[in-house]
Amino acid sequence: MLDLQVLRAYLEEVSFLRLFSPCFSSCRIRPQLSKEKIEGCHICTSVTPGEPQVLLGKDKAFTYDFVFDLDTWQEQIYTTCVGKLIEGCFEGYNATVLAYGQTGAGKTYTMGTGFDMNISENEQGIIPRAIGHLFSGIEERKRAAQSQGMAAPEFKVSAQFLEVGASGSGGTLWGGTVLSTALVAWAP
Ligand SMILES: Nc1ncnc2c1ncn2[C@@H]1O[C@H](COP(=O)(O)OP(=O)(O)O)[C@@H](O)[C@H]1O
Ligand SMILES: [Mg+2]
Repeated sequence: MLDLQVLRAYLEEVSFLRLFSPCFSSCRIRPQLSKEKIEGCHICTSVTPGEPQVLLGKDKAFTYDFVFDLDTWQEQIYTTCVGKLIEGCFEGYNATVLAYGQTGAGKTYTMGTGFDMNISENEQGIIPRAIGHLFSGIEERKRAAQSQGMAAPEFKVSAQFLEVGASGSGGTLWGGTVLSTALVAWAP
């Protein structure tokens, strides 16, 4: 169960996106939007070279397992944070990825839940990549078994998708947080 009070406290702390799994936490800083450039907004974050640390302004430092600066590709996020979790599913581990942050922080973009049909493959987010990875992993294992003269293993896949909303103090409505779980059971 998610403790919404804890979640809200986190949400109010900083405005950039954080990705969580049971094993690690990461922070992704999105590039400025055109509107923000036109309005002359300043970038107030900097990533400490060689360290998974982000500085907010001059003196507020936050450390994570991974920090992804403005120019990070979707693929880098997937490979670093999620790919291993999907491989873990084949070993019997459940996987959960939680993205949270203020509205506009980049949760939908990073999770890939806008399901915009016009985006390029490079821009695909975590969920479409994870589904592709899962099903190609299944095919690979079936082919490997058959090529060794064994019966193809059977797989059962179930997935849950949940969006959590939270409202902050002063009536501010914070953006939906995405939680997704994929579970694979297979009989070799
Ligand atoms: N890493 C990124 N690179 C380019 N554009 C991004 C990135 N992250 C977010 N955006 C853009 O920023 C805007 C807000 O992102 P969005 O994912 O909708 O935020 P949230 O879901 O947290 O409210 C969208 O226009 C989105 O396309
Ligand atoms: Mg969103």
